[in-house]
Amino acid sequence: MVIAIRPLHIVVLIGVFSVGIMTARAVERPTEAVESCLTGECHSDLTQRRFLHGPVAQKDCSPCHVLVSAQKHTFALTTEGPALCYVCHEAEPTLKFVHSPFQTSCTVCHDAHTGDSRDLLVTKTTEELCRKCHIELAREGAYVHGPVAVGDCLTCHRAHQSDFPKLLVSTKQEVCFDCHTEIQERLAEQATVHDPITKDCLTCHYMHASPYEFLLRHDPKDTCMQCHQNLVEEMKEFQYHHNAVSMSDQCLNCHDPHASPTDQLLKDFSMDICLECHDRKITTANMVIPDIKEQLTTNSNLHGPLREKNCLPCHNVHGSNTFRLLALDFPENFYAPFEVERYELCFHCHEKNLVLEPKTTALTDFRNGDLNLHFLHVNKKERGRSCRACHAEHASNNPVHIRDAVPYGNWILRIVYTETENGGRCFTGCHAERTYDRVTPVQYDLSQ
Ligand code: HEC
Ligand code: HEC
Ligand code: HEC
Ligand code: HEC
Ligand code: HEC
Ligand code: HEC
Ligand code: HEC
Ligand code: HEC
Ligand code: HEC
Ligand code: HEC
Ligand code: HEC
Ligand code: HEC
Ligand code: HEC
Repeated sequence: MVIAIRPLHIVVLIGVFSVGIMTARAVERPTEAVESCLTGECHSDLTQRRFLHGPVAQKDCSPCHVLVSAQKHTFALTTEGPALCYVCHEAEPTLKFVHSPFQTSCTVCHDAHTGDSRDLLVTKTTEELCRKCHIELAREGAYVHGPVAVGDCLTCHRAHQSDFPKLLVSTKQEVCFDCHTEIQERLAEQATVHDPITKDCLTCHYMHASPYEFLLRHDPKDTCMQCHQNLVEEMKEFQYHHNAVSMSDQCLNCHDPHASPTDQLLKDFSMDICLECHDRKITTANMVIPDIKEQLTTNSNLHGPLREKNCLPCHNVHGSNTFRLLALDFPENFYAPFEVERYELCFHCHEKNLVLEPKTTALTDFRNGDLNLHFLHVNKKERGRSCRACHAEHASNNPVHIRDAVPYGNWILRIVYTETENGGRCFTGCHAERTYDRVTPVQYDLSQ
């Protein structure tokens, strides 16, 4: 073994030895070789912490210390820096990423003799050790990540070296899944995974601490804007806006940031998302929006898409250029000059010939003999009645979604509809009671 004796070491050792002796006990420094360094009088302080380093436990100082002068009782280290330890411990860093102090000094972190833990750290806890050098980590934010809060740096990092950048115990993504198995499971189960999730959790989250809730990198309000700014700009262009986009959790009122069973990362397939807010009357500057949940629970006959628990075929909830956030065109008023395009919403699913043919025996049941009463009511150059004059768009207790009443200006016009064997009977504010019959047409003078 090469013994490197350098004057500097001797000076340091002498200095420390003297201090140790003075503060411990006034014992004469031996002037000749002694049998044991760990007698009660001398270096017993080196063995007073709970754990002893292997060779120290064996009372063997020689692997590390070599006597320079027995008379002066001076010693030198047998070799310098990490090499001293490599004599017995695994030599040289071998992995791709090496912690820089691991290359220069083992004793900045380990006590060569004794320690409070098995790892012989110079500090009481690992966290204290890391923060000795990484002081800036203490100042990152108000919301601290669980394992960081309890000082468990080594659940994610290796202290010496690693195959992964930033000394992580595995890849950046895998590290998170070590504990967040519930998220990992969700990602595996769900049909759609948000694109950035598959790459890096840290595009949205901090790993240690954050000034924002959920360890987010940006104010929750701005998290989605980081990448969907264009879409948000487009939303501003709409003539009709939906408060849901800007109130409370904003985008997260409807979307899951990680994964979802639907294509569009919606929290849920069903209308339940909407009914979280539309379960009460909402008063806006212009109107009182009725309680939709109540409409759906107090009316037994739900319109097709609502039976499927789906509001989305008819409403564009980011915003729209049609009133009531409708997805396709639909007349806003009781009367509308007839143009088939104005009824795009309904004819997206229903047969448009329903209102185009004056005579029919097949296109609709709303006829008197072969006289098409849909054509008669709706298909008029000026004051055609919109579908909403007779039908409820969401739900009704009457057959074929006939309304109980319809707003007519500021007046609520009642509609009393009765189904008959081959037709129906209607008593409204529009006209006296009228009956239609598909088999035996009722005779009317329509010029009246
Ligand atoms: C594994 C190597 C190793 C062994 C074994 C070892 N020492 Fe040390 N010792 C060191 C190192 C390294 C230093 C210098 C400490 C530093 O630089 O922080 C040191 C420093 C000292 C000092 C200076 C005071 C101090 O507390 O730092 C004394 C005294 C000492 N050792 C005594 C002993 C005695 C007595 C033994 C045997 C029972 C022993 N050492 C065994 C490595 C060792
Ligand atoms: C003479 C051989 C020898 C030298 C030199 C040596 N060690 Fe050790 N070290 C041991 C033995 C033996 C153990 C006990 C191993 C065990 O209990 O499994 C040990 C244990 C340790 C442990 C605790 C490991 C555990 O899992 O309990 C640490 C940390 C450690 N040594 C660090 C160092 C450092 C740092 C140096 C250099 C300053 C060093 N050793 C030099 C022999 C040595
Ligand atoms: C930045 C601080 C730091 C430095 C520098 C450092 N260690 Fe460690 N070492 C630790 C910590 C922390 C642990 C406990 C690891 C754990 O619990 O996973 C440890 C554990 C150990 C162990 C026991 C577990 C194992 O990995 O076998 C040994 C032996 C050890 N170190 C030796 C060394 C040697 C030799 C050097 C210098 C080449 C060194 N250490 C440098 C912090 C450090
Ligand atoms: C003696 C000082 C010191 C101690 C103690 C220390 N580190 Fe470091 N650490 C450094 C230095 C120096 C760097 C390199 C900084 C750089 O490259 O910017 C570093 C870098 C790192 C890096 C980044 C590595 C990379 O690839 O960029 C991580 C992670 C890290 N340390 C974690 C820890 C942990 C965890 C502990 C406690 C177990 C710890 N450090 C204790 C000095 C220290
Ligand atoms: C939950 C896992 C986790 C815990 C616990 C953790 N870290 Fe990290 N740390 C990371 C990840 C992931 C990175 C890599 C960030 C990146 O690549 O951008 C990192 C990066 C670092 C860096 C490199 C500098 C930087 O900001 O990129 C240092 C230094 C560091 N951590 C120190 C610590 C210390 C000290 C502790 C304990 C107080 C700790 N870490 C606890 C996951 C963790
Ligand atoms: C060692 C286990 C562990 C690892 C690894 C881990 N976490 Fe955590 N994480 C926790 C614990 C514990 C909590 C706190 C849970 C609580 O308060 O309900 C938490 C909470 C969170 C939270 C929610 C914070 C809040 O305010 O509710 C986020 C976001 C998070 N972790 C992201 C990550 C990311 C990203 C990674 C990977 C870099 C990661 N975690 C790795 C254990 C871990
Ligand atoms: C596109 C941005 C984004 C990415 C990427 C992302 N998250 Fe999140 N994460 C969020 C948002 C936003 C929240 C807050 C959710 C809320 O308010 O309900 C959150 C919440 C969390 C929570 C706490 C609430 C919960 O659902 O348990 C954990 C844990 C979490 N994320 C872990 C992760 C992990 C692990 C990854 C990587 C696999 C990841 N996140 C990737 C945006 C993201
Ligand atoms: C780091 C960038 C980034 C952030 C931050 C981000 N997204 Fe995305 N998002 C994407 C990318 C990339 C796609 C893939 C589709 C595309 O090419 O536009 C996507 C797609 C989507 C989709 C459509 C689903 C799909 O798979 O096509 C929705 C919905 C979505 N994001 C919502 C959100 C919400 C809500 C937030 C805020 C919690 C958010 N995003 C934050 C990048 C991001
Ligand atoms: C009221 C519920 C709701 C809110 C709030 C909401 N979305 Fe959506 N989002 C949807 C629905 C529903 C779809 C599917 C649209 C469709 O299929 O027609 C969608 C689709 C998307 C898509 C994919 C399709 C596209 O248009 O590019 C992205 C990206 C998206 N939303 C981002 C956002 C962002 C960012 C926010 C917040 C500014 C937000 N959403 C707020 C319900 C909502
Ligand atoms: C976070 C609460 C919230 C959620 C979730 C929500 N809404 Fe709304 N919605 C509102 C509020 C508040 C208004 C009234 C203010 C406004 O936007 O003009 C409203 C208004 C509407 C309007 C009428 C707009 C107008 O101009 O008269 C429609 C239609 C609508 N929502 C449909 C939906 C649908 C469909 C869903 C589900 C995809 C949904 N909403 C989810 C809060 C919500
Ligand atoms: C078949 C198409 C369709 C479906 C499906 C649909 N709506 Fe509507 N919705 C409409 C039409 C048409 C209007 C405009 C009614 C009017 O004022 O003439 C409307 C109006 C509204 C209004 C404004 C208040 C009102 O009564 O005028 C709200 C709020 C609303 N819908 C919410 C929902 C919710 C929530 C769902 C799912 C539970 C849903 N809608 C499903 C067609 C539909
Ligand atoms: C997304 C497709 C869709 C849209 C848009 C739609 N409907 Fe429907 N509608 C249906 C389905 C599905 C049924 C149920 C058919 C069945 O039960 O056989 C239905 C049933 C009806 C019925 C009752 C038929 C019967 O035989 O009981 C009427 C009336 C009706 N819709 C009127 C309208 C009106 C008015 C509009 C425009 C405001 C409209 N629908 C828009 C899909 C739609
Ligand atoms: C004047 C009232 C009235 C108007 C306006 C009206 N309907 Fe009807 N509609 C009815 C009646 C009554 C029935 C029931 C016929 C029967 O089953 O006897 C009906 C039946 C239907 C049916 C079921 C299939 C059928 O034709 O028998 C659909 C679909 C329908 N209407 C769609 C519409 C659409 C779309 C509009 C607007 C373009 C509209 N209705 C306008 C009164 C009206």
